[in-house]
Amino acid sequence: MKIFYKALAALLLTTALYLPSYAQNSPIREVGSVNNVNISGQKVSLTTDRNNHVEVTVYTPTVVRVRMDKQPLGKDFSYAVVTQPQQTKVNITQNDKEVTIQTDSLQARITKNPFSVAFLTRDGKVINQDEEGLTTSWIGEEVTTYKKMQKGERFIGLGEKTGGLDRRGSGYTNWNTDAYAYTTNQDPLYTTFPFYIGIHNGLNYGIFFDNSYQSDFNFGASNDRFSSFGAQGGEMDYYFFYHTKLADIIGSYTFLTGRMELPPLWSLGYQQNRYSYYPETEVFRIAQTLREKRIPADGITLDIHYMDAYKLFTWDKTRFPDPAAMNKKLKDMGFRTTVIVDPGIKIEEDYGAYERGVKDDVFLKYPDGKYYAGEVWPGWTHFPDFTSEKGREWWKKEIKFFADTNVDGFWNDMNEIATWGQKMPNNVLFNFEGNITTHKEGRNVYGLQMARASYEGARQHMPNKRPFILSRAGYSGSQRYSAIWTGDNRAEDSHMLLGIRLLNSLGVTGVSFSAMDIGGFTGNAPVGLFARWIQLGAFTPYFRNHTGVNTRSAEPWAFGEEVTEIARNFINLRYRLMPYIYSNMYESTQNGQPLMRTLAIDYTHDDKVYNSEFDSQFQFGKAFLIMPFESTKTYGKVYFPRGKWYDLWTGEVKQGNREEMIGVQYNKLPIYVKESSIIPMQSLVQHTGEMPTDTLTIHVYHGDVANSFVYYEDDGESYDYQKGAFYKRTITYDPRRKTITFGDVEGNFKTKFNHVKVMLHGFDAKTRFQYNGKRTDVREDFASFIDPVSRFDPQGTANPQIGYKVRSMVVRNDNGRFTVGY
Ligand code: GLC
Repeated sequence: MKIFYKALAALLLTTALYLPSYAQNSPIREVGSVNNVNISGQKVSLTTDRNNHVEVTVYTPTVVRVRMDKQPLGKDFSYAVVTQPQQTKVNITQNDKEVTIQTDSLQARITKNPFSVAFLTRDGKVINQDEEGLTTSWIGEEVTTYKKMQKGERFIGLGEKTGGLDRRGSGYTNWNTDAYAYTTNQDPLYTTFPFYIGIHNGLNYGIFFDNSYQSDFNFGASNDRFSSFGAQGGEMDYYFFYHTKLADIIGSYTFLTGRMELPPLWSLGYQQNRYSYYPETEVFRIAQTLREKRIPADGITLDIHYMDAYKLFTWDKTRFPDPAAMNKKLKDMGFRTTVIVDPGIKIEEDYGAYERGVKDDVFLKYPDGKYYAGEVWPGWTHFPDFTSEKGREWWKKEIKFFADTNVDGFWNDMNEIATWGQKMPNNVLFNFEGNITTHKEGRNVYGLQMARASYEGARQHMPNKRPFILSRAGYSGSQRYSAIWTGDNRAEDSHMLLGIRLLNSLGVTGVSFSAMDIGGFTGNAPVGLFARWIQLGAFTPYFRNHTGVNTRSAEPWAFGEEVTEIARNFINLRYRLMPYIYSNMYESTQNGQPLMRTLAIDYTHDDKVYNSEFDSQFQFGKAFLIMPFESTKTYGKVYFPRGKWYDLWTGEVKQGNREEMIGVQYNKLPIYVKESSIIPMQSLVQHTGEMPTDTLTIHVYHGDVANSFVYYEDDGESYDYQKGAFYKRTITYDPRRKTITFGDVEGNFKTKFNHVKVMLHGFDAKTRFQYNGKRTDVREDFASFIDPVSRFDPQGTANPQIGYKVRSMVVRNDNGRFTVGY
């Protein structure tokens, strides 16, 4: 009897377990149990009893790729990934229950029945694992992988996504969208960066889901079980990254998807935009006023009105009778011209670009072979297929038109693709490098491929010159070709702070060169908001002021004398910081580290940095801690992470690991410098083509932590650095040995600076200094980063200088190593 009940219970249990998922008519296709394993080198190929196909491949000791499909895996193709698996020491074993992959950094455990994957540290701590019972499954063509939500798990990343730094509890969609005047919680926006970082229990990992169909990420939104990522078609294809330091995950992700190239130096200067400056006399008025008012600037941007009836690859000849001469004259004044380029080519007989496009047959088509037409600025247009070699080659030829008129920058807009109606049909076909696909898979990479074509065209027609490419739409890998800006934001305080978080998040996804419209695109910024925004703008990678077509003037002088002085102060500071900024950009080219760093990068396991009160704070390079505040705030709470922080304006030291209520002044954004920082600066110039004085000032802040900084210099313009024409040295701060060491110079570029002035901050008054071991005199000096704003009341006396006393020493800058001791 007992046995009978036991058997019955067992039978009922199995039925209960198996029925729902194995039911014949289940709308869910599960991954199933492994029935065949093939191990070959660094790759494990598996099939399951549900006829699904899986491949797990070790790329590096810290990167493992998982691919799955419900048919044999197709051609391995990606627009994002530029790296092949690297020869890696792996140990792959299996038994009845599981396959185990071991590298020097991690283990991947594949459970066979049913299939699921877990990633563990070498010593067995779970980093990330499939959610039992759900793992990976399909609903029709839609494929999703479900990961167990770990205790206290947080998520950051996905690039240009609204919301807070910690994405726990939220869900997101990737579908590149023309999001005019978006709200601060709108989703999706213009770009797709399907890469995020999970953080829990002192561990952090990255996941990059390389699938360009519309994708969805769920970090515990409307569920208490899992985080998940899935797409409406294509393969499950993701890369798992594990490093102990979060920064190294960004390093590995950019190893996989590529890193930015060194930008032209002028693109790091201040850029003046509006929709639109025309005619030519207006462009010169703006350029001239910047010079007259001594507001440094390097760029002027021409928006759509430079074209004849918005037709690309034309100039409106009444507004711009001689563009080549105009751009040449601007260049002589120290300005580079960037033009907007939109993908839509007007359908119009006798219009050159249209006729040439038709002749070369480069436009996107419907399945019946007719060109797709959508409506944009010029009216009805066709769109080049940038996912075909033919389309890109055509565009590259057309780019010559601008190279011939002395244009230096290409601002790629409307490339989501934006069309009026915002509903591009899904049956439009994309070449996808010969793997013909539909709009569903093509859309999210279109912007990336347009930026690529612009980049390659500029390279071709501007020999040995670094082009500047900006793009609104993008996909993972965009950093290889272009900077990204966050589109049509609003002139509101919340957008200024959101913009900071968007750029910080883009930095996590490998886009170091990024921008937002300073001052806001739609609406009119109140005076105070503009004042605050331009201060923050000085600490964004691509520093552009831009505003919409129906807004008031938004040049720095349009907000009155006081704001003009505030703006000048911060733009001046930006130019003085150019050696620091350029060196940081160099670092991005080497290891993918962003210039704007969310505090989650260096203080990953400090809960406070995710607190919504503090999650817009960021580091600009590793030295500066920037505290953004709404323009209406006169005081507010900030958080100092561990360590010691110097007030940039007063030199006052704040102890870290503390919240503090601080006063916020109208004219001075709160900025702090991390202890042990090394910050190279130069004298003020009006544009990057102007020679600074021949002294490079290196600010060194006393501290208890070791630090080093790679100083990098080259001509800022050409590719000669690739042949050794650069100047690079590592400067090291060693608190144990009490030394500041300037390492040997590498490269054969001659530095602009014959002297180095070391400014010593926070060193005790009694400190004696040595130069190469010999006692040396230091002089009294004054550290000042901005000028006081005038007192406009004629009765008033001048405001006091802003700064504090420090000591400094000047030494000749030869290429040899030298040490300052203290
Ligand atoms: C789009 C761009 C904006 C530009 C405008 C006109 O809205 O996002 O920056 O000024 O088009 O070209």
